[in-house]
Amino acid sequence: MNQPDASPLGSPVNRRGFLRTTSTALVGSSLIGGLAFERRAYAAGDDTIKIALIGCGGRGSGAADQALSTAGSVKLVAMADVFPDHLKGSLANLKNAHGDRVDVPEDRQFVGFDAYKKAIALADLVILATPPGFRPIHIEEAVNQGKNIFAEKPVAVDGPGIRKVMEAAKLAKQKGLRVGVGFQRHHQVAYLEAMKRLHDGAIGDIVSMRCYWNGNRPWQHPRKPGQSEMEYQLFNWYYFTWLCGDHIVEQHIHNLDVVNWVKQGHPVKAYGMGGAAKPRKSDDGEIFDHHAVEYEYADGTRMFSQCRHIGNCWDSVSEHAQGTKGKIDMADGGTFALTGPNAWSIKDRDYKPKSPYQVEHDDLFSAIRNNKPYFELDYGVESTMTAIMGRMATYSGKIITWDEAVNSKVNLAPETYSWDAKPQSLPDSNGMYALPIPGDPKWVKKVV
Ligand SMILES: NC(=O)c1ccc[n+]([C@@H]2O[C@H](COP(=O)([O-])OP(=O)(O)OC[C@H]3O[C@@H](n4cnc5c(N)ncnc54)[C@H](O)[C@@H]3O)[C@@H](O)[C@H]2O)c1
Repeated sequence: MNQPDASPLGSPVNRRGFLRTTSTALVGSSLIGGLAFERRAYAAGDDTIKIALIGCGGRGSGAADQALSTAGSVKLVAMADVFPDHLKGSLANLKNAHGDRVDVPEDRQFVGFDAYKKAIALADLVILATPPGFRPIHIEEAVNQGKNIFAEKPVAVDGPGIRKVMEAAKLAKQKGLRVGVGFQRHHQVAYLEAMKRLHDGAIGDIVSMRCYWNGNRPWQHPRKPGQSEMEYQLFNWYYFTWLCGDHIVEQHIHNLDVVNWVKQGHPVKAYGMGGAAKPRKSDDGEIFDHHAVEYEYADGTRMFSQCRHIGNCWDSVSEHAQGTKGKIDMADGGTFALTGPNAWSIKDRDYKPKSPYQVEHDDLFSAIRNNKPYFELDYGVESTMTAIMGRMATYSGKIITWDEAVNSKVNLAPETYSWDAKPQSLPDSNGMYALPIPGDPKWVKKVV
């Protein structure tokens, strides 16, 4: 049901990946007729919602496709990317799929590190789907410009980034903006049904929880001759912490988000260990290949989390909770099973749900058209911070508290964004990047 959190290697606008997350339902314009808008999110006299896409890779193209497949009049009017070929490829696919709904002439195709500002200015709703290291400045800009947002997860990769998003969230609420965040499980029937039961006490009080994103590592983009260091790291962004947050933040965040949803809150402490068990090559960058974190919630409940990027081991992408009256296993091979006196189960393959990637856009656009509140950024921030706190624990080897993590001054970003700017982590003479050493005071300072 949920696609791997990385677009397939080689083509950020891979046609198969694009179609996999696409609903073909193009519903006619019907919702807006006759409705009175107290506060329109788009230009008076025109019910068209204008969309700008920032980050035209696999997920951004998929999200634009889903936005363009929502009911009512929608138009993609601007696109921005740092790589012109990504933008052109995405545009060609979207034009092919949506015809006149895609109206992005040359003068509304923006390339470069500040391209987002120009694209955001032209839209009613912006899709933010670059690597997450840029998300805080993109969210901040969209909110400052008063635009509705669909932001892919994670919404930040470090403490300074999350604080920027928290500030932007406050302002977005004051401005009455609608913000969706790409945790599509919140729009998937099986999860919604499971949560209803759990929150109604179907398994009693939660005693412990577990969650996993154990699998192989996703795509790698080997260095090309002539690339600057910045270009290479952006090209191979999954393997650099300032861009992706490490895979505990980039992928495992989905499972951490689900357990926070079960618990209706965030953990207050993290105890972790991790490292790189597989022999490393330069394209493995600076991230660990496994993390194991024990999280503690305010009432003392523990949650055990693992994520692994090593092939030929046991795999699972799932969440589990044990209660005083029963237990639940979620998404284990597409099955959701609650056992105990209130037994219940559901299988994705039996009820063939509409893609939650489509439903999350249907819901967001419907809220905009019907002037309903819609705000997913609060749990977007909490789930992102949960993952960052876990990474701080595995990198440092220390017990990390929520407050310590939120207030961390460690800023992973380079000083400036340009093709000749220097990222903080550079390769040694063998092309290898240093990995954090848990317990080493020099590293502890660099990672928490
Ligand atoms: N919700 C999900 O299930 C899901 C699935 C896949 C990806 N994602 C998320 O979507 C985001 C993008 O992932 P992807 O797989 O599409 O990656 P991708 O590499 O295919 O696409 C990223 C695009 O952003 C562009 N880009 C990079 N820096 C930029 C900048 N500063 N300004 C403008 N464009 C920039 C890249 O050139 C590329 O075209 C990530 O945050 C990822 O976690 C979510």
